[in-house]
Amino acid sequence: MGASYTVDVIPGDGIGQEVTPAATACVDALAERHDFTIEWRDRDWGSDHYRSTGRMLPVDGLEQMADADAILLGAVGDVDIPDDVTLWGLLIPIRREFDQYINLRPSRTLPGVPSPLAGDKKLDVVVVRENVEGEYSEIGGRFRRGQPDELALQEAIFTRKGVSRVTRFAAQLATERSGRLVSATKSNGIIHTMPFWDEVARETVAEFPGVTLEKVLVDALAARVVLAPDSLDVVVASNLFGDILSDLAAAVAGSLGVAPSANLNPEREHPSLFEPVHGSAPDIAGKGVANPVAAIWAGGMMLRHLGQPEAADTLEAAFGAVLAEGTRTRDLGGTASTTDFTDAVLARLR
Ligand code: NAI
Ligand code: MG
Repeated sequence: MGASYTVDVIPGDGIGQEVTPAATACVDALAERHDFTIEWRDRDWGSDHYRSTGRMLPVDGLEQMADADAILLGAVGDVDIPDDVTLWGLLIPIRREFDQYINLRPSRTLPGVPSPLAGDKKLDVVVVRENVEGEYSEIGGRFRRGQPDELALQEAIFTRKGVSRVTRFAAQLATERSGRLVSATKSNGIIHTMPFWDEVARETVAEFPGVTLEKVLVDALAARVVLAPDSLDVVVASNLFGDILSDLAAAVAGSLGVAPSANLNPEREHPSLFEPVHGSAPDIAGKGVANPVAAIWAGGMMLRHLGQPEAADTLEAAFGAVLAEGTRTRDLGGTASTTDFTDAVLARLR
């Protein structure tokens, strides 16, 4: 009898309801093949829960999940509820309370996925985004509301602990890949926090003799993702820069529909959360056409984190092969439905 894991599943809103079952079905198929079991705890949290209770998450929602081995999330967000309510009511509390300070976002060009890159340029990068501090802080305010001299202030927070742990994680990842680490900065324009980021990153990466650190201004780095993607491997970035760069990398890889992410608490004191990068996509929700690759790949990242790397490899090879043989959802120019694609992956897993 193999290992057993408890995973909280929050399909959430919109296409989250469609792509999450695809991911759990693939993981279940792998469980049989690789001799482990998953106990799924279904959580019907999200916008419907908000409409009936006034909360995205129950008051004790985080406590209910505290003993989980991982959390699998679809997406949250609904057209008739402000995005700050859905985001700050569910995802941000989970990331912060469970100290998921790493947001890991791999992007690569995949056979069968048309990329907007010119020629036969290839991309294979992992963005390591700082996930709990930086530019996304609650400190600040709006003053003289509605007056001609109204102003808004928003503080960014960078701590030595926060910057060193994210760069340490990224440097460790770089040692397992090419040894090349790029740090996104803007120390020419943001003159307090970014020089501090550069300094702590340099000190931290010095602990890794096998890693070369290159700091690149984020605007130039954005251009490089498009113009010279093969010059990039592991990129470490602050919360805001990492958010933007990883969406850019996902777009360059072909579609938001194939971009997964992990929110990690590397010390494993709390559960980590795995999710597609995309949102609830209200424009296509309920039509059965959402691309399930991002959610399925997020399931693979979860398996890797749980200590099932062979199962994760099997899964990545399976959806890669299905894409390569030409089965594609609409966002990739194909005609397959969410379930057509998922069934093709399941057929390869069984
Ligand atoms: P979105 O990612 O939901 O959609 C952007 C575009 O990409 C849409 O045209 C959509 O149809 C398409 N798309 C996204 N995922 C796809 C998939 N799997 N297959 C095919 N096409 C796909 O971003 P948008 O429209 O900015 O946000 C919609 C809602 O989602 C908002 O309420 C937003 O706050 C929320 N959101 C939630 C996130 C989360 O739960 N982590 C992340 C991003 C947005
Ligand atoms: Mg984003």
